[in-house]
Formats: sequence, C-alpha cells, structure tokens
Amino acid sequence: MRAVRMEAPGGPEAMTVIDVPTPEPGPGQVRVRHEAMGLNFIDIYQRTGLYPLPCPTGLGLEGAGVVEAIGEGVTRFKLGDRIAYASGPVGAYAEAHVVEAARAVHVPDEIPLPVAAGVMLKGMTAEYLVRRTFHVKQGQVILVHAAAGGVGQILCQWAKGIGATVIGTVGSPEKATLARTRGCDHTILYRDEDIAARVREITDGKGVAVAYDSVGATTFEASLASLSRRGMLVIFGNASGPVPPFDPLRLSRGGSLFVTRPTLFDYIATTEELDDSAAALFAEIASGRVKIEIGRTFRLEDIREAHRTMESRETTGSSILVP
Ligand SMILES: NC(=O)c1ccc[n+]([C@@H]2O[C@H](COP(=O)([O-])OP(=O)(O)OC[C@H]3O[C@@H](n4cnc5c(N)ncnc54)[C@H](OP(=O)(O)O)[C@@H]3O)[C@@H](O)[C@H]2O)c1
Repeated sequence: MRAVRMEAPGGPEAMTVIDVPTPEPGPGQVRVRHEAMGLNFIDIYQRTGLYPLPCPTGLGLEGAGVVEAIGEGVTRFKLGDRIAYASGPVGAYAEAHVVEAARAVHVPDEIPLPVAAGVMLKGMTAEYLVRRTFHVKQGQVILVHAAAGGVGQILCQWAKGIGATVIGTVGSPEKATLARTRGCDHTILYRDEDIAARVREITDGKGVAVAYDSVGATTFEASLASLSRRGMLVIFGNASGPVPPFDPLRLSRGGSLFVTRPTLFDYIATTEELDDSAAALFAEIASGRVKIEIGRTFRLEDIREAHRTMESRETTGSSILVP
C-alpha cells in the first residue's frame, strides 16, 4: 500500500509517499481501508519535531473507512463496518491502517466517511473543551481564537448552540465572514486589532468567562488580558509557537485566573470516554447545530502541498486526505 514516511523531522519535504507492506492486525486490532484521513495541526508539530516522534516514522492520527481485517479477540467490530478513529500510533497517512479496536468507533449511517475523517479529532476536541475542561453555560461570553479553523468552527457552533455569546478571532476579513456563519456573534481581526481592548468593549469591561487559545505564543498575553475575574484560559495548541514560561503570580494579579493546558487523549483515555465523546459529537452534527465544513481535500500524493497550505493559514474548516 501507499503510505507517508518521514526519515527525520523537517519541513513538508521531509515527507515522502512510498510503497510499504500492508500491515496485519494483531490481537485486539482491526485494519481499516481508508476512505479519507484527517489533516490536523498536531501533524505539523510532529513533522517539525515540536512533538518528537522516533524516526523513521509514518504520520497522521485520524481516519475513516471500512474494516477489512480483524485480529484475534475483537468483538466490537465485524468485517465491512464503517469506523473512524482519532488515535495513535501515527500512520494514518496511508491507504490502510491498523488500529486498536478499543480506540475506534462506529460511524452512524447518516455521516459520510470523509466527514467522519475530518471531524473525529477536531470534533471530540471541541466536545471536551466546551463540556468538560470548562463547562460553557447559556448566557456566558467566551473567546475562541482561530475561529474559522477546523476545531474553531466546531467549537464556536457548539458553544453557540448552548446559548453562549461567542467572540472569535480570525486572520482575514473572509474568515470573519465565514466565522459569523459558524456561531460567532463578534469577530476580531487579530492581525490588525487589539484583542483584549475589543473584548473589553464587547463585554462592557467585564471580560470573558473562558478563552480557548490554540494559537499560543502570539495570543497568550491578549488571552490572559481578556478574562473576567476567576476566568479560565484554556491553552490547547501552539499554531504560532509554544507559550513561554510565565509567573503564576500573574494569575493572582489578573483576577484569580485559571490556566490549563489540556490534550484530547486525556479526555478520551478510556473506551467509555471515547464512545461518549464521539456520540455527543455525532448528536450535535445530526441535530444540525454543528455543521461541518470540509474545506480542502488533498490526495495522499499531495501531502507536502497539504501541509504547506495548512501552515500558511490558507485553510478553513476541516481538511482531509484521500488515498
Ligand atoms: N490539545 C488538544 O487536545 C488539541 C486537539 C486538536 C487540535 N488542537 C489544536 O487546535 C488548533 C486548531 O487545530 P486545527 O487542526 O483545527 O487547525 P486550524 O485551526 O484549521 O489551523 C490553525 C489556524 O491557526 C491560525 N493561526 C494563527 N497564527 C498562526 C500561525 N503563526 N501559523 C499558522 N496558523 C496560525 C490560523 O487561522 P487564522 O488565519 O484565522 O489566524 C490557522 O488557520 C491547533 O493549534 C491544534 O494543535 C489541540
């Protein structure tokens, strides 16, 4: 089968598509024949070495397709089932992939597999951020950075469906227009505008109950400065680089603030948590409250272009690869 390999961390050119033997599932595992694979910003952190991987290595953590081989002892799935996963080990950038049956879920009939491939990792992230890291409630005002992005669009729509007022930051006027159709009540062009000043203006000086920050280095200060008393900053990504170390005393001076740095894999650590998170996500999609935009579809062969496009902030919504 065709699969992406990387000999050492680097730029997009570090990735090559090669022929490899199709892997066989071991006990408790299944092999999924991909209809599509998800593209995620975490793949870029792993490619560049910000999140180190032992090399040589495959890449990619998300996919959807049909079960075509089953390992010993698997009862959760049968041949032909439509499944999706967002889980290690890396290697989803391939025509097929072997995953632990306990780390995959059934895809409901009404959700096309390419949508499932584009939504598992980003959508379950939105689920835990909005319902568990900080429980967003009706009437609260929240701030979401990169609101037109993959996670951003789902997060904003989910919070809006709960009844929150959503302020979204975006990199261009076109993305602002899009974000307003995806749950944002207000948008801030954070390349030009002072985020915290605009947030204070919109909230009559109060600030937001929670700031969801996946941009990191360039937005950290503004996120802290946008919080209300006892507000929470959720740092969940580093699209512009990691947040530098800071003095906890700043949290006290800022109004007894909270900061957390969560990762999806701790919120879907058990199969029960995984099933609950995926079910909640599929229910949001089925209800129509969360609409999924598959912005760009790239061929596996074009993986370098796919990464360049993501890194240069040209994508909106979820992007996928097809074999
Ligand atoms: N912790 C977790 O559990 C978890 C899980 C999933 C994803 N994440 C994080 O969530 C974020 C969103 O992931 P995604 O896959 O949906 O990606 P995405 O939001 O579609 O793409 C990242 C976006 O970040 C914005 N950005 C701001 N500064 C940037 C910079 N210097 N370089 C590149 N982009 C920049 C861009 O939007 P604008 O042009 O609008 O600025 C860009 O489109 C990522 O940081 C990812 O690591 C975290």
